[in-house]
Amino acid sequence: MLVNAIGRAVPALLALLLGAALSLPASAAPARNAKAAPGDCAACHKAEKVLPAGHPATKGMKLDACAQCHAPKSEQALGGKLPGMHLHQLRGIGCAQCHGDLKKPTEVAHDKCMSCHDTAKLVEKTANVKPKNPHTSPHYGKDADCNLCHHQHAKSENYCNQCHKFEFKVP
Ligand code: HEC
Ligand code: HEC
Ligand code: HEC
Ligand code: HEC
Ligand code: HEC
Ligand code: HEC
Repeated sequence: MLVNAIGRAVPALLALLLGAALSLPASAAPARNAKAAPGDCAACHKAEKVLPAGHPATKGMKLDACAQCHAPKSEQALGGKLPGMHLHQLRGIGCAQCHGDLKKPTEVAHDKCMSCHDTAKLVEKTANVKPKNPHTSPHYGKDADCNLCHHQHAKSENYCNQCHKFEFKVP
């Protein structure tokens, strides 16, 4: 009888403990889930609300769909509002295209960025940015390391402003 009661109680207790463990709040850090579809925020952010209340569902969307409301170059543009990794992923550029081996991802050097980006074209594209073109300067020429300003896993920064006051919006 006693053995039987324990036999029933133990699994019940285990289930209870497990249930408690599962209902703990999800860990704060979002997952860098390489398999997640880019518009599926919850696949990585879980319960964390990363979009304003009432925002339309973005699951299944790519950047061109976002652009209907977040037009490039407008106040609503997404550059600077999401870490760069998102902006690449929403364009269909996945983790492996920057990192290669995903088993041991490490920093991605400037040279890797240049395998897709072209400095001359970039300098031309931002020639009219005020107050200065961020992609060319008397100090670094056209070769400033992209990662000084653009961050893929954190908010981008304005490297020049250690010394200057340039009002850049860095995507
Ligand atoms: C049907 C229109 C619409 C679509 C499509 C849309 N959004 Fe939005 N989004 C809005 C509106 C409206 C706001 C609130 C106003 C604002 O901040 O631009 C907003 C705000 C945001 C914000 C917060 C901006 C901030 O300043 O903090 C993010 C991030 C965002 N959207 C991401 C996305 C992404 C990523 C997609 C595509 C996967 C997307 N949105 C598609 C309408 C849209
Ligand atoms: C556009 C290129 C790019 C894409 C796309 C990208 N990364 Fe990265 N990743 C970087 C760079 C650059 C660094 C160096 C640190 C930084 O800038 O945050 C880095 C660093 C890392 C690191 C190691 C250092 C750290 O900060 O922990 C990991 C792990 C990582 N990335 C995983 C991923 C995963 C997983 C994805 C896809 C969900 C991804 N990355 C997408 C460029 C990229
Ligand atoms: C596999 C190709 C590829 C690699 C590698 C890559 N990018 Fe990109 N990136 C693109 C494409 C395509 C676009 C969209 C077209 C454009 O703006 O040039 C883009 C857009 C961008 C943008 C503009 C984002 C926006 O929405 O405003 C920045 C900034 C950027 N990349 C920086 C980097 C940096 C820094 C690295 C290296 C850590 C990097 N890219 C690596 C393909 C790549
Ligand atoms: C000094 C900081 C800084 C550095 C370093 C930097 N950028 Fe930028 N980048 C910016 C700013 C600011 C913008 C937004 C310009 C604007 O307002 O249109 C930008 C915009 C971009 C865009 C979008 C251009 C467009 O008009 O569509 C791309 C792509 C880009 N950068 C890639 C790179 C790459 C690749 C490198 C490395 C060769 C790099 N950047 C180095 C600050 C920087
Ligand atoms: C592939 C997984 C993944 C997807 C999908 C994803 N995110 Fe993220 N997001 C991250 C990670 C991881 C970070 C923290 C920076 C890093 O490590 O790259 C982050 C950071 C952010 C940040 C910066 C603030 C913060 O909480 O750190 C915002 C805003 C954000 N994400 C919004 C979104 C929105 C909006 C969507 C859906 C349109 C989305 N994310 C989809 C993984 C993801
Ligand atoms: C470590 C400090 C420092 C950093 C970082 C720095 N600068 Fe400068 N910069 C200076 C100094 C000092 C001068 C010369 C004095 C002056 O004219 O302001 C100068 C002059 C200039 C000039 C010529 C004068 C002018 O204002 O037209 C330009 C253009 C310029 N910097 C652009 C940049 C850009 C773009 C960046 C970021 C990619 C940058 N600087 C980063 C210190 C810096």
